[in-house]
Amino acid sequence: MEQSQVKYNYEYEEKLKICFIGAGGHSYRNVYPTFQYAPVDLAAICDIDKDRAEAYARQFGARRAYTDHHEMLEKERPDAVFIVTSYHPDGRVQATDLAMDALNAGVHVWMEKPTASSIQEVQQLIEVSKKKNRYVMSGLKKVFFPTIEKVKEIIESPEFGRASSIYIRYPQAMPPFEQRSDLTKLKGLLDHIFHPASIIYYLMGQIAQLSYEREAMNGGTITNMKFKSGAVGTLQLTAGMSGSSPLERLEVIGEGANVVVDNGVKLTYYRKTKRPSYGRSSSFLVDNEAAPLYWEPEFSLGQLYNKNIFYLGYVPEVLHFCESILSGKPPVKGTLTESMEILKLFEAYRNTPESTITVLNK
Ligand SMILES: NC(=O)c1ccc[n+]([C@@H]2O[C@H](COP(=O)([O-])OP(=O)(O)OC[C@H]3O[C@@H](n4cnc5c(N)ncnc54)[C@H](O)[C@@H]3O)[C@@H](O)[C@H]2O)c1
Repeated sequence: MEQSQVKYNYEYEEKLKICFIGAGGHSYRNVYPTFQYAPVDLAAICDIDKDRAEAYARQFGARRAYTDHHEMLEKERPDAVFIVTSYHPDGRVQATDLAMDALNAGVHVWMEKPTASSIQEVQQLIEVSKKKNRYVMSGLKKVFFPTIEKVKEIIESPEFGRASSIYIRYPQAMPPFEQRSDLTKLKGLLDHIFHPASIIYYLMGQIAQLSYEREAMNGGTITNMKFKSGAVGTLQLTAGMSGSSPLERLEVIGEGANVVVDNGVKLTYYRKTKRPSYGRSSSFLVDNEAAPLYWEPEFSLGQLYNKNIFYLGYVPEVLHFCESILSGKPPVKGTLTESMEILKLFEAYRNTPESTITVLNK
């Protein structure tokens, strides 16, 4: 994997003029701070809450604050806009409409997930993005985690063999099927499905078909997937885990090798090797050349790699967007195509009862 040297904002010679819609909790913690390391000039911030827009402008060095995004885009004419907003009362995603407005104003869009609440809305974004020749990238942070990028590199190496199966765990309850026609009851699922589903698509490609089972105690589910590649997978959306537990676990099996990521930062690569002889071997330790490889960050030094805005993918995703615009090449991660695949999964849960096979991609 390429170890790139991170530049600080003031070291960039060429910067994009950007505006930001949304001065809420997540953006304060995790998105505005990424601009310390990105080629951006934050011109203005818009929030319907004027005081907050002004406070964020002071805090993050924007020159102006607005309460109307149309006015901001019209007056500022930025290269790109970042959108980190929330949900409409009917459960639809506010950012979908705002992204459409920004595209129509001729501006590139970076938007937090969820990109939209339906396949149809993503299709509309794809069409307008093409028509206006402007990019839309969603904040699919998981595919920018250094560990997940490393897993991708490992599973695509010849030594690993073909990725034959995947297991992924993420905590998210699902309401009973009868409630799923009501989008407001699915806010949690829509909000979070983007996380495991983005990893699944990034590592395994399109899901051909799936079926799932749900437990009625907490609303946890197990989904079995068959991929177009021929591989299989299980998505365990848990409900009922302890609040003190790490959330996520991922394992991909190849042909004689497997790789595990625990808690987003601990990566173990069990390289291809023979099991010590059954009933005769006195040691479990295999040769150094074939021994498992293990990585986890150190948390002693004031480094970039042990800041959450790096190991949770926030700075890398923002950099990918900025570099795409500056180089004139569309983003290859966080794309609308990825959002489309994620929403196919979301709609499968909405429209299909348990124990039924649903075809997602023929
Ligand atoms: N990737 C991640 O790790 C992660 C983590 C948390 C939240 N999120 C996502 O971030 C988004 C925001 O979450 P949050 O918890 O910060 O929400 P929030 O409610 O704290 O912030 C949303 C802000 O958007 C503003 N807003 C809404 N409509 C607007 C409009 N038309 N013009 C201007 N401002 C407008 C609101 O006034 C509010 O200040 C959600 O999409 C959520 O899914 C992502």
